[in-house]
Amino acid sequence: MIVCICANVSDRTISEAVRSGCGSVDDITMKTGACSGCGQCRMHCQSEIDAHNTLIQVSEMSQQTV
Ligand code: FES
Repeated sequence: MIVCICANVSDRTISEAVRSGCGSVDDITMKTGACSGCGQCRMHCQSEIDAHNTLIQVSEMSQQTV
């Protein structure tokens, strides 16, 4: 699904960018072009980053309790 209409960037591309190390919306913009226009997709990009960070924290916590 296209999330950023301005730059024709899909949700999959944004997810891949986050998984490959983009830790901020600016990073995603530099890598994919998303959020380089109207900014309507900024919330989606930030949500992807937040979800990724939460997964990492949960993973780290589960490793500490083993
Ligand atoms: S929809 Fe992404 S910048 Fe406009």
